[in-house]
Amino acid sequence: EADLVEIYNDLGSIVVRALLTNRARRKSVFVPMHWTDQFASNARVNSLVPAVVDPFSGQPAAKNTACAIRPFAAAYHGFMVTRAEPAMAAADYWAFAKCEGGWRVEFAGLQSPAKFLDLATDLLGAGELLAYQDQKAGEYRYAVFEGEQLNGAIYMSSAPVSISRAWLVSRLGKAHENRLNRYQLLAARPSGTEIDIGSIVCSCFSVGRNQILSAITEKGCANLAAIGNCVQAGTNCGSCRSEIAEILNDTIVRQAAE
Ligand code: FES
Repeated sequence: EADLVEIYNDLGSIVVRALLTNRARRKSVFVPMHWTDQFASNARVNSLVPAVVDPFSGQPAAKNTACAIRPFAAAYHGFMVTRAEPAMAAADYWAFAKCEGGWRVEFAGLQSPAKFLDLATDLLGAGELLAYQDQKAGEYRYAVFEGEQLNGAIYMSSAPVSISRAWLVSRLGKAHENRLNRYQLLAARPSGTEIDIGSIVCSCFSVGRNQILSAITEKGCANLAAIGNCVQAGTNCGSCRSEIAEILNDTIVRQAAE
């Protein structure tokens, strides 16, 4: 889960992040077709689809393509938020997307850099640097500030990076005027009354996984309609409803087992 995999067949291969889920049929693979070479190093899933179309409708055989999966042997994984558009030539895998206040980037390399600090300063640019390095654990974290403003923060690890991405993205637009909130940034989690909404589940209303969990466990929401009334999730286009149902089901099963 969250690790990188190579999906391949006779036509080529792509590298994407894996998510294990009950939402896809057993032994089948779903890959979004929206990634272009502009936003990802190698994720155009249509490059694996043969040039076969339905003779009547012209529909391509996009849902009937044989493929296999193997691990992408990354030596290190990284996640970055940055105000400036990223230039990712140094990484073997990368994918980035626009977010409020800047960009969020996933990346990885087949070989560890000689110095993680050098890679971080190349990617984040000049500014006031804050660093945390634990060579033994394989954890490297850096943030660069200009005055009170965060220019960017970068998290690298020998394993897939496990941090609160939504919270980090929200920090791009905030002032970092004291040591405490700068250190929180390297810890990659909020403290005190600040809320970590978790990974975004409902894009229409920017509702995170933790908000849905809290609607279920703290506010007693026991079905999709109740969750929608409570936090709005799932009440517009509906494309997030199967994921909300999975969270609800998992939580109810876990509560029943406790
Ligand atoms: S993504 Fe949740 S309603 Fe559209």
